[in-house]
Amino acid sequence: MSARLFAALELPADVRAGLVAFGRDAAARDRALRPTREDALHLTLAFLGHRALDEIDPAREAVRGVAGSPAPVLTLADPLWLAPRRPHVLTVGLEERDGVLAALRAAVVARLADALPWEPEARPFRAHITVARVRREWRPRLDDLPVAPRATFTAGAVVLFRSHLGGRGPARYEPLERVELSL
Ligand code: 2AM
Repeated sequence: MSARLFAALELPADVRAGLVAFGRDAAARDRALRPTREDALHLTLAFLGHRALDEIDPAREAVRGVAGSPAPVLTLADPLWLAPRRPHVLTVGLEERDGVLAALRAAVVARLADALPWEPEARPFRAHITVARVRREWRPRLDDLPVAPRATFTAGAVVLFRSHLGGRGPARYEPLERVELSL
């Protein structure tokens, strides 16, 4: 048995509402897209993949270690297809002015890497929120997107999630640990 784990930043409800509407509008224009459900919208900080069940508690403790860190102030940026050359997800990018998100992400990754037999990804972090997924074997139309939402907001919590892959349906994300940041 193993658990598929990832750590993510929680998004405010009004920001999620704008993003889910954007994902749904994009999917209404293009059948290649499957919109993300509102409760599945988050900003992934660290993807751990499948971990042994006895790694769950150390992962929870690692995430607890960033409690009280400064909360990032983020601005929604332009839509971003990932990976750019062969898109499989439609995302909205994020910008920040002060490096707080980058520092928080580095702290989460460092604590998880200390706590678990896990090798962090070497590629640079590109902050994004996935609003729709490209259906398998489909190619999305890249040039007909609705107007993307705009917002600046504070992200106030980090959550360790367990992802339950739902066979044909969407994955379900179970929160295992949630820590608040300092606003
Ligand atoms: P996403 O933010 O681009 O959607 C649960 O699957 C979360 O972990 C998703 O939000 C997803 O990324 C991220 N994720 C899934 N597989 C990943 C991988 N191989 N590398 C990095 N992140 C991944």
